Amino acid sequence: MRRSNLILFTLACVLLAAIAPVHSQRPRDVEREVNALLAKMTLAEKLGQLQQLDGEANGNFRPEQVELVRKGLLGSTLNVRGAQRTNQLQRVAMTESRLKIPLLFGFDVIHGYRTIFPIPVGEAASWDPMLAERSAAVAAQEANNAGVRWTFAPMLDIARDPRWGRITEGAGEDPFLGAAFAAARVRGFQGADYSAPDKVLACAKHWVAYGAAEGGRDYNTTDLSENVLREIYFPPFKAAVDAGVGTLMSSFNAINGVPASANAFTLTKVLRQEWKFDGFVVSDYTSVRELINHGVAANEEQAAAAALNAGVDMEMVSRSYNQFGPQLLEQRKLSSATIDEAVRRILRIKYRLGLFEKPYSDEAREPQSLLRPDSLTLARQIAARSMVLLKNDRNVLPLDKNVRSIAVIGPLADDRRAPLGWWAGDGREENTITPLAGIRAKVGTNAKINYAKGSEITGESTAGFAEAVALARESDVALVFVGESADMVGEAASRSSLDLPGRQMDLVKAIQATGKPTVVVLVNGRPLTIGWIVDNAPAILESWMGGTQSGHAIADVLFGDVNPGGKLPVTFPRTVGQVPIYYNHMNTGRPPEAENRYTSKYYDVPWTPQFPFGYGLSYTTFKLSNLQLSAPRIRAADKLVVSVDVENAGQRAGDEVVQLYVRDPVASIARPVKELKGFQRVTLQPGEKRRMEFTLSHDQLAFWNREMRFVAETGEFRVMVGSNSRDVIEAKFEVAER
Ligand code: NOJ
Repeated sequence: MRRSNLILFTLACVLLAAIAPVHSQRPRDVEREVNALLAKMTLAEKLGQLQQLDGEANGNFRPEQVELVRKGLLGSTLNVRGAQRTNQLQRVAMTESRLKIPLLFGFDVIHGYRTIFPIPVGEAASWDPMLAERSAAVAAQEANNAGVRWTFAPMLDIARDPRWGRITEGAGEDPFLGAAFAAARVRGFQGADYSAPDKVLACAKHWVAYGAAEGGRDYNTTDLSENVLREIYFPPFKAAVDAGVGTLMSSFNAINGVPASANAFTLTKVLRQEWKFDGFVVSDYTSVRELINHGVAANEEQAAAAALNAGVDMEMVSRSYNQFGPQLLEQRKLSSATIDEAVRRILRIKYRLGLFEKPYSDEAREPQSLLRPDSLTLARQIAARSMVLLKNDRNVLPLDKNVRSIAVIGPLADDRRAPLGWWAGDGREENTITPLAGIRAKVGTNAKINYAKGSEITGESTAGFAEAVALARESDVALVFVGESADMVGEAASRSSLDLPGRQMDLVKAIQATGKPTVVVLVNGRPLTIGWIVDNAPAILESWMGGTQSGHAIADVLFGDVNPGGKLPVTFPRTVGQVPIYYNHMNTGRPPEAENRYTSKYYDVPWTPQFPFGYGLSYTTFKLSNLQLSAPRIRAADKLVVSVDVENAGQRAGDEVVQLYVRDPVASIARPVKELKGFQRVTLQPGEKRRMEFTLSHDQLAFWNREMRFVAETGEFRVMVGSNSRDVIEAKFEVAER
């Protein structure tokens, strides 16, 4: 090294050494501060940090809770929001409590705070995790300015059963897609540093297997092998932990007899020991006390011991830790080390959030942070990119902008509540653009809009049919908006039928019978069984519950300003009796064959779904060809590059989501017939052809074997690339020992 270089090098080293401690010291400082604070705390104050209470009672604080805050006996609230209100309560903690430990304000900001984005399963249909990152960032910015520092999101439950209402809150049925969205949402909410003024602490929920509730009935029990847990239900959570999520929420369900809120295997062995998670776990709402109903605790005292010892650090709403902590300690059923560790985890996060330095929100900033024009523009774009075109015969869509008259029919055509979905944060109906409003804004005075509700979402009345039919007859085209109400999806909204509720199907039939081109637009939060519509209506658009701007987005897609490119993140069954039906199933010893009765299928309905996972059309068409692998044979540790041409063979620019699936046909335990291992959404101009590349590595070929080791076995593998999970082109390669 030349002398001048040596000097430069030495200088750089000195500089680096001077800077480095600033970063590496920060976590050490937090630990020191946490421990110093812990040393000053009484047992009651420690148990207070482990308590979260629902802070809102009809717009007032409960006086008893304010008293708890004053005494330093409450760590966190949920549902208190608004900069002024959170500041008011925080002031009590910061000025009147002995140790001045700030409160942590939590709230369910699932798919937006005031600007509401599509429900998460809809957003997942974009197959564009970057969009989820951006919507979560807007939600974080609005929520933080409204005093909320912690969101109970993202919801990461894999859901293979559309009867379960909470399928609406997750990313669908697939662990790979789910993991991609999990990481994106965590990044969006928390950013690189969740103490930033436009970020919030995230909470990956519900840990775990809540989506596997038997019969799709909410809160129900689950029974799952460790393989299924690790391969299907864990991956989105692992992705969230790897992305730095600060907290997790333990779920309501039991797993193989052990409730998730008292499950040392999931809470401690997997989460803490294997994944090295160092944040904290909050229980779900009263799920600690519910251990009694589960039948693993005789009373609240036992429930407290079971949950805290298993690894639930903070108790939401029920108060068994606080009430019974002291006597459990005395009886040595709980150790002071366990309590201290839970407190440490919570304080650590409060420090990382910067709450001690900046406990208050800037009240002046709140109003201007909500519904910003750029947030609304993004909400419109994301809603449009989330839509899935399910059918489009004879190119009924996109609609001609010069059409003279349009019938806008259906109970969801002008409903302001449904597009906001369940958990609409602080979303307001008055801000919703309904489909009718969106269409009016799009066509202006060019076309006559003939609007009729036709029917309610539920109920038996057909009194509105005649008007709707008459208006459809007068119009060039009929758009029928049918689906579900917001309260039919989400928590405690399991359905035993997936049909359109009420008389909506009859309404569609009546409009279709007019002979006018009929476009059915679904506004819903779960897969529905719509066989008649699929067989009879020329065009179907799945719009989900698209949020504040959904009406504009629907109009953008219907009139072709946006070419739909979304794909289903969940299988649509033909009948509810096919459920559970999901693409990554095992093969069985008798895979279905049409001509062979004694194979795995149904007597009365085809075994195939209505629409497969990954399905979705466009106003243009795409061709996949020329699938190639970088090698015919690799070692398990090597990477394989898979490449394919995708071509826009139609007349319009459009998006295709190229999906990569893998199958391990012979292994030491049975493997799924297909597993998603890669995807990319691309925009191509008419005639444009692009070569896409995917890299497959060990983790994408590996599975949990009989000894519960994560291994990629040698032998043949199949690679499938397609525009959905059914229509694929295939190649083979081999994983060899050497
Ligand atoms: C119960 C729900 O299961 C959970 O998702 C939510 O975060 C809490 N309630 C708090 O509202």
